[in-house]
Amino acid sequence: EFHLAPKPLELASNGVFGKFDKQQLQRGFQVYKEVCSACHSIHRVAFRDLADLGYNEGQVKAIAQQWTTEQPSTNPETGEPATRKNLPSDKFPKVYANDTAARAANNNAIPPDLSLMTKARPNGAAYVHSLLTGYGESPAEVQKEFPKFTTPDGLYFNRYFPTLNLAMPPPLASDGQVTYADGTKSTVDQMAKDVTAFLVWTAEPKLEARHTAGLASVIFLLIFIGLTIGAYKSVWRNVK
Ligand code: HEM
Repeated sequence: EFHLAPKPLELASNGVFGKFDKQQLQRGFQVYKEVCSACHSIHRVAFRDLADLGYNEGQVKAIAQQWTTEQPSTNPETGEPATRKNLPSDKFPKVYANDTAARAANNNAIPPDLSLMTKARPNGAAYVHSLLTGYGESPAEVQKEFPKFTTPDGLYFNRYFPTLNLAMPPPLASDGQVTYADGTKSTVDQMAKDVTAFLVWTAEPKLEARHTAGLASVIFLLIFIGLTIGAYKSVWRNVK
C-alpha cells in the first residue's frame, strides 16, 4: 500500500471529555460555505441545525435565504420545475441536479455528500484533514516501485487518497483564501482543521450529549459498586 496513514489530528471534540469548539465550528462552516459547497452537499443537515454553532434565529434565516443553491420546487401555476429560496427547516440542497451533471462538472467523478464523511472513512477526521493538506508531493517515491505510475490529466496526486490520484483539485490552495469573521489567521492548515471540525459536527451533532451521558453512567456505576460492596460487607458482617 502506497497511500499514507492520516496524520494525527487534535480536536476539542476528541476524547471522553471532548466538547465542540463553537468558534472553530463557525470558522469551519465558513470554509465549507465559501469553498466546499461549490461541489459538495451536506444534505443530512438542516439550516436550523446551525443554531448549535451559536448562530441566532435571524442569522440562520439569512444564511438559508442567501444560500446560492435553492430547493427544487414546482411552479404551482405552470407545473414547470422551479426553485425557491431555502427556509431554516430545509436541508442543505444538493449541488447538482443529478449524478450525470455532477460527473460532467468533475472529470467524471461525483463529489460525495460530506454530511457523514468523517464517519464514512477509517479515522475519518484525521483523514479529511490529511487529504486537504496532502497535495503537492511528487510521485517519485511511488514510481521507484511502480515505474508506470502516472497521474493522468485532470486528476491530482495525493498520498492520503487510497488510489493516490483523485479528481478533486486542491480546494485549499493558498493561505488567506477565506477571511475569517473572528480574525483567526487562515493558513491552509487552519482552514483544513476548521472545516474538519465542522464535518465532525455534521456527522455527529449530538457528540456532546453522548459524552455527558457516558460520563454520568460511569459515575453512577462507581457509586453503585460502592453501595454494593458496602451492602455485601454489612450483610456478611456476623458470618464467620
Ligand atoms: C472528494 C472534501 C472541495 C470535488 C472529496 C472527499 C472529501 C472531500 C473528504 C472524499 C475523498 C474520499 O472519497 O475518500 C472536500 C472539502 C472541500 C472540498 C472539505 C472544501 C475544503 C471540493 C471542491 C470540488 C471538489 C471545491 C470541486 C471543484 C471533489 C470531487 C471528489 C471529491 C470531484 C471525488 C474525488 C474522486 O473520487 O476521485 N472531497 N472537498 N471538492 N471532491 Fe472535495
